[in-house]
Amino acid sequence: MSDETESYLHSHLNNKEESFEQSLRPTSFKDYPGQEDKKAQLQISVQAATEREEPLGHLLLSGPPGLGKTTMAHIVANEMGRNIKTSSGPVIEKPADLAGLLSALEYGDCLFIDEIHRLSTNVEEYLYSAMEDFYIDIILDQGAGSRSIRLDLEQFTLIGATTRQGSISAPMRSRFIQDIRLDYYPADILQQIIIRSAGILKVDIDEDGAKEIANRSRGTPRISNKLLRWVRDYAQVKADGKITQEIANAALEMQKIDEFGLDEMDNRLLEAIIYKFEGGPVGLKTLSVALDEEEATISEVIEPFLIQEGYLKHTRQGREVTDKARKRFGLDPGTGSGQPNLL
Ligand SMILES: Nc1ncnc2c1ncn2[C@@H]1O[C@H](COP(=O)(O)OP(=O)(O)O)[C@@H](O)[C@H]1O
Ligand SMILES: [Mg+2]
Repeated sequence: MSDETESYLHSHLNNKEESFEQSLRPTSFKDYPGQEDKKAQLQISVQAATEREEPLGHLLLSGPPGLGKTTMAHIVANEMGRNIKTSSGPVIEKPADLAGLLSALEYGDCLFIDEIHRLSTNVEEYLYSAMEDFYIDIILDQGAGSRSIRLDLEQFTLIGATTRQGSISAPMRSRFIQDIRLDYYPADILQQIIIRSAGILKVDIDEDGAKEIANRSRGTPRISNKLLRWVRDYAQVKADGKITQEIANAALEMQKIDEFGLDEMDNRLLEAIIYKFEGGPVGLKTLSVALDEEEATISEVIEPFLIQEGYLKHTRQGREVTDKARKRFGLDPGTGSGQPNLL
């Protein structure tokens, strides 16, 4: 992923916002609504490992940004009663960086590696023996006469997170005991999350206000929390501070989030395919140029939601919009460009 995508993913995530996210982050499964089948699966392995007093098996968490991977990793460590150390793929540049991280782990600790698909192959290979047999061989002198020493590690749990499940190599994937893919959240679960967050932020909100925000959150808790923050400001300045459906609606209209929950980027992408490429198929590269947007941002951040919601599909020839997307722009099914259907 390029730096640009990185900055889009973490857009506006300066220190202040990061602590805002922190304050809303649940620390136990019971405060983490949604992903029920995934949670049930994890709770069984956590309980089993705890009862055997063993470390948990390595865990891979994947899914689009903002669905709760980092939160889940911390909850797992917390429920295991173990420490968690965190790092991320691009930060671990050399095998020595990895050796430093691993050798600091105590028995049963969790090591969280975010964006694990961005580890360099060199570093990744060192991780294999660490994950499987809890040692790494460190090469001392390069070239002829090179020697290596074996560094034994404590048994630990690796928790990897990725937005790109498909970019994890097969040998890496096979070393994870559990492979959990988080899904977009239905609106009623997001509504619960928003009500909980509002409680923490001491914001007055009614059920319908929360529902309105939930419907426009792209199935993503991070977006729910972000929108809640904006609607709170709006309610404070434009009304008496209480978030109702009407206030939420007015606030979100101002941010150009439509009633389908699609944001400006979503709409730009669909419009481009419909009006510039006659509904598709169009390749990712071409689309990236047309939108002046990174390929990775398009495929990892924007498209998964549009596909899930049935606005877009991937075919062998490229990206195509569906009739649902055409209807969204007031066009007849099956047409590409053309006049909006005014009926
Ligand atoms: N199931 C959930 N319940 C409550 N809050 C959640 C849930 N999932 C995510 N969040 C909130 O959404 C924000 C983003 O979650 P995070 O774990 O950082 O996502 P990811 O690591 O997948 O990008 C955090 O503030 C977190 O508290
Ligand atoms: Mg994260």
